Amino acid sequence: MIYSIVQFSFIVATALFVFALHWMKDPKTARKGVFSGVAAMTIAIISTLIDPAIVNWEWIAVAIAFGFIVGIPLSKVPLTAVPQRTALSHAFGGLAAGLVGTAKFYLWLDEGPENLTVFIMVAIIAEIILGYLTFTGSLMAAGKLQEIKWIPQRPVTYKGQNFINLGLLAVAVVFGILLIINPVEYGYLFPAIIFLAVLFGVLLIIPIGGADMPTVISLLNSYAGLSAVAMGFVLDNKLLVTAGALDGSSGLILSIIMCKAMNRSFTNVLFGAFGQVQAAKAGVEQRTAKQETPEGAAQILEQASKVVIVPGYGMAVAQAQYRIRELYDLLSKLGIDVKFAIHPVAGRMPGHMNVLLAEAKIPYEQLIEMDDINSDMPQVDVVIVVGANDVVNPAARSDKSSPIFGMPIINADKAKMCFAIKRSMNPGFAGIENELYYADHTFMLFGDAKAVIGELVKHLSVVVAEK
Ligand code: TAP
Repeated sequence: MIYSIVQFSFIVATALFVFALHWMKDPKTARKGVFSGVAAMTIAIISTLIDPAIVNWEWIAVAIAFGFIVGIPLSKVPLTAVPQRTALSHAFGGLAAGLVGTAKFYLWLDEGPENLTVFIMVAIIAEIILGYLTFTGSLMAAGKLQEIKWIPQRPVTYKGQNFINLGLLAVAVVFGILLIINPVEYGYLFPAIIFLAVLFGVLLIIPIGGADMPTVISLLNSYAGLSAVAMGFVLDNKLLVTAGALDGSSGLILSIIMCKAMNRSFTNVLFGAFGQVQAAKAGVEQRTAKQETPEGAAQILEQASKVVIVPGYGMAVAQAQYRIRELYDLLSKLGIDVKFAIHPVAGRMPGHMNVLLAEAKIPYEQLIEMDDINSDMPQVDVVIVVGANDVVNPAARSDKSSPIFGMPIINADKAKMCFAIKRSMNPGFAGIENELYYADHTFMLFGDAKAVIGELVKHLSVVVAEK
């Protein structure tokens, strides 16, 4: 009876996981998707706990308490730190899968080697290789994104790197095959596979620059999912198989979407050492960008009839979305048509800008995808670039030598006038200069995005009050 209840709950949980992913596709239903995912996970945990095979409640209680102690502070990180927080979750997931595979192997090796069939051994080997490499790979990725001192942000490359990395993985796979053939005789190779997987996880991430970490994290997500699938086969738990498969495939799809939006290939992300310090170009003359004051910018803005705001990572850093909402309200009161141009990889994670603007209750229909707004840009009187850089860099269209060449961009340079709000002339994520800032029609408004937009709001409030 309990078995049937558990199996039925697994079907319900799987369905809820599928709905969760489906609903999360659209901002309007995303909240429902989150609730569905939470419900699915709750059902999964409860139905696993009522399994009579559970032998030790005390340790489970300790693990749950530990999970809460780690999980609650993790849930409170700022939105800008979500990519590294996600990487930490994958690290824990990978470690859990690796440890379960290790425990099961040694348990069966001692108490019933006949359980270590070819099928189970294939699953265990896949589980530990993927689990442990996800563990260290994700820790490295989180460290790079968090800019931890002793982890270099820039890609670290050396001769023969790919050969060494793939060689290590090949050795782990060969050891795994020997273990599959005879787990008892070759049992001593098991720790060696763990060591190689742990090392491979670190070496896999070292040559990848901080700029590519969000894509890599999403890829590690799919590895964690696949190791959960293997764990499901080892434990004979169908829910783990289905949930792991959903996790694995959604991670992979997300990585593909990100690669497409940056016009990059998987191999370029994994082996391209993107973000490497480039030698300074000889003979580049020192240029200065034109500046404008918030007061002057406000005077120009009040004359405009079409304004487009392009948010980027700097808006997230400055938490300027609430000020932007005030600016949007004031400009709308002046009868100005205000739209937001959303680039698919603006910020540091998919949907980053959408989430922040929705948080400030900016009407969703004013958020226009890059492909839909680009053709309107020549008719736009003023484009306000708020902490965006790479996603408006015209080099992506014209400079074949640029690392972002081919990445679709928002055509801010085609608008009649451009105000760019940022703190300095420092580059963005890709580490390259932006011609847009030196264009004839561009004026820099230097400062923290929240402060500068606050100033614009102050000046425009006076204009609105006088009307
Ligand atoms: P970035 O190119 O990273 O530029 C952000 C700009 O914001 C910087 O130039 C910085 O200049 C400015 N900034 C930082 N803090 C600020 C503050 N407090 N106030 C005002 N400005 C501030 O951002 P983007 O245009 O959004 O492009 C995103 C990049 O991330 C792309 O290269 C993309 O490929 C990459 N990426 C994104 C994703 C996803 S899914 N979103 C995934 C992988 C990679 P200052 O320092 O001078 O202020």
